[in-house]
Amino acid sequence: MKKGFIDVVVGLQWGDEGKGKNIDELLSHGAYSGVARFQGGANAGHTLKLGDRTFVGHIVPSGCFQKGIELYVGNGVVVDAISLIKEISELKSLGFNVTPRLYISNRAKLVSYLHIFLDQADEYRRKKLGTQIGTTSRGIGPTYSDVRARRVLLVGDVLSPDFTKKEAILSKFHMNLLKMYKKEYGFEIPEQKIKEARTKWLEALKELKKLKICDVSFSIQKRLREGKNILAEGAQAVMLDVDFGDYPNVTSSNTLPANVCLGLGVPHTALKNIYGVIKAYTTKVGSGSFPSRMKDDKIEKLFRDAGNEFGATTGRPRMCGWLDLFALRYAIGLSGANKIFINKADICLSDKIKVVTGYKQNKKTLKEFPLYLNQVTDVVTENMPGWGYANYGVKSKRKVSKELTSYLNYIQKKLSDLNVKIVSVGTGPDRDQFFNWDN
Ligand code: IMP
Ligand code: MG
Repeated sequence: MKKGFIDVVVGLQWGDEGKGKNIDELLSHGAYSGVARFQGGANAGHTLKLGDRTFVGHIVPSGCFQKGIELYVGNGVVVDAISLIKEISELKSLGFNVTPRLYISNRAKLVSYLHIFLDQADEYRRKKLGTQIGTTSRGIGPTYSDVRARRVLLVGDVLSPDFTKKEAILSKFHMNLLKMYKKEYGFEIPEQKIKEARTKWLEALKELKKLKICDVSFSIQKRLREGKNILAEGAQAVMLDVDFGDYPNVTSSNTLPANVCLGLGVPHTALKNIYGVIKAYTTKVGSGSFPSRMKDDKIEKLFRDAGNEFGATTGRPRMCGWLDLFALRYAIGLSGANKIFINKADICLSDKIKVVTGYKQNKKTLKEFPLYLNQVTDVVTENMPGWGYANYGVKSKRKVSKELTSYLNYIQKKLSDLNVKIVSVGTGPDRDQFFNWDN
């Protein structure tokens, strides 16, 4: 019997490439029975537009608007119950009751209300040292730290009679850490605020218990045996991977497709296509160096405003940069992406645009990606003509402006030795605003 496979969608830049829209489109053709998150947590923010309805998802996978598609939250995910319950009720009010088709791994990790305060506490400590990461304040770092230290609560624990005892032990440990942050760094959370957060969290856990908490690895393997295919949805992006990003300005999980196997509990032989998503330009939110950042503030602002480049989770303005082919080649090498989606090609508010093709360190052009991005002292760029708004809403290759056509041909040529193909190009936020680029 023919076995099913898993296709993966990951961002190849610093997140916010618009993966949600591509996932929604991929799922709409009936080739997949489910979509699964394998890492990250409520730090992710995907904005989905369906006609005049907009939904910002954090934990619920992006396929939630596709009726009948099973939604999996894998063991590699850190689950913020408050965020999850809120998303479920928002979706319900939009006419999508996802609970019957939402499966949460019993091995997924539980973000506690104290993890969120600890995230803030550590950012406060770092700020004093001048090494702030600019996290999304969703408790991601402290939760993954507890995973590695083998003391985190698992989602499946909420169903166990031992939960209260386990939770009390962990909360006591966290409160002691918060005392340390107060003593050493002067960071303090008012007691009342902690109490309120706890009440809210426990209420959310009561709702979480009512959801389908199960062995997601088993469920997905069963579907694969039945010959059904699954789409794995990456959160954040390759350049934020804890091992291969610009450490420590990264997230706390492995965002690479390699982690699909560990974050869902499936063998590597199940993986098939790796879809890499980029924007026609680049953005980054949070701290850390960003070599391809636009040097002209006015142009950066034009892109930020036109592209609505503000964090979906935090509302922070994103830094905007040119397409960075040096970083992209690194990301393709790490991810094994064989198909590329390019989003936001409608936005190009400059007559002349640049593309970064290399990094320099003290006048020397680098061959390898540097250990730390702050070692990059200059970038190598090439100039290209821009196209303004000319391609907004274009749905056919024949209608694409000549500037964008040559830009796409240029990118394809620059990546030709990497065995990847540009497959589609986004020209607006709506579902159908894209064109196929198969040559
Ligand atoms: P954390 O994942 O909240 O710990 O944040 C670590 C870094 O990753 C910060 O620079 C965040 O801005 C960035 N980050 C985390 N999640 C996302 C995302 O979904 N999109 C873009 N940046 C993100
Ligand atoms: Mg986002």
